[in-house]
Amino acid sequence: MQNWLQLSMPPKDISTNGHLIDSLWNYTTMLCIFYFVLVCIGLFGFSYLYSRKRNKTPYYTYGNKKQHLLFTAIIGAAVFLTIDLNITRISNNDLLEQFWKWPNPATEKVLRVEVMGQQWMWSFRYAGPDNEFNTKDDVITNNDLRVPVNTKVLFHLTAKDVIHSFFVPNVRLKVDTIPGRITRVWWEVKEPGEYDIACAEMCGTHHYLMKARLTVYSEEDFNRWLATSEQLAMNTNDPDDTNLAWGWKWEN
Ligand code: CUA
Repeated sequence: MQNWLQLSMPPKDISTNGHLIDSLWNYTTMLCIFYFVLVCIGLFGFSYLYSRKRNKTPYYTYGNKKQHLLFTAIIGAAVFLTIDLNITRISNNDLLEQFWKWPNPATEKVLRVEVMGQQWMWSFRYAGPDNEFNTKDDVITNNDLRVPVNTKVLFHLTAKDVIHSFFVPNVRLKVDTIPGRITRVWWEVKEPGEYDIACAEMCGTHHYLMKARLTVYSEEDFNRWLATSEQLAMNTNDPDDTNLAWGWKWEN
């Protein structure tokens, strides 16, 4: 029972903004439960009130009297205002105040990563020592994303073939990767560890296999890993290998 319950819960939130998604989710669920219970009380309550046991004479109504229509309209408006409009308001605020506050690599410390989705894997690219993307010293990994803790990471993403969706459940973020277009997402994670990355868009036969590993390092460990990988990239990246040149010039 507990296992089932744990499995049905979202995985641990490790990001600075994930709680916004969780609270919106909880708020929506609670409101839906509230209205569901209300509807059930009405449904079963009136069934009981007007049951044969209590009222021998049947009473026929079609609910089309003025007061019925008014009552229905008020209930409908209440649901619309308290659920739909409120959720829109909250999510809109979250977008404007957090998710769309793009970190600026020119003025603050931001790690930039380019992401390429393709059938059926994720590729990641770090700019390397020259700070330019799509050059020989880029660090390129497949299905293996490594980021430092407590640092803003800005992703620019695209896809090679069909639409994929970059999904990191522990960070509560999901963004489509689209051929011919660059989409963006950023995060800051609070806890070192290893987490899952999935593809959340049905993208072909092996969609279900399209997963990657996210490793969150302490800043020291990340810098050490990056330095080693940059050295390795400079020694081994073949500038004539067109498969490696899937990156693009970064534009803010
Ligand atoms: Cu890529 Cu599903």
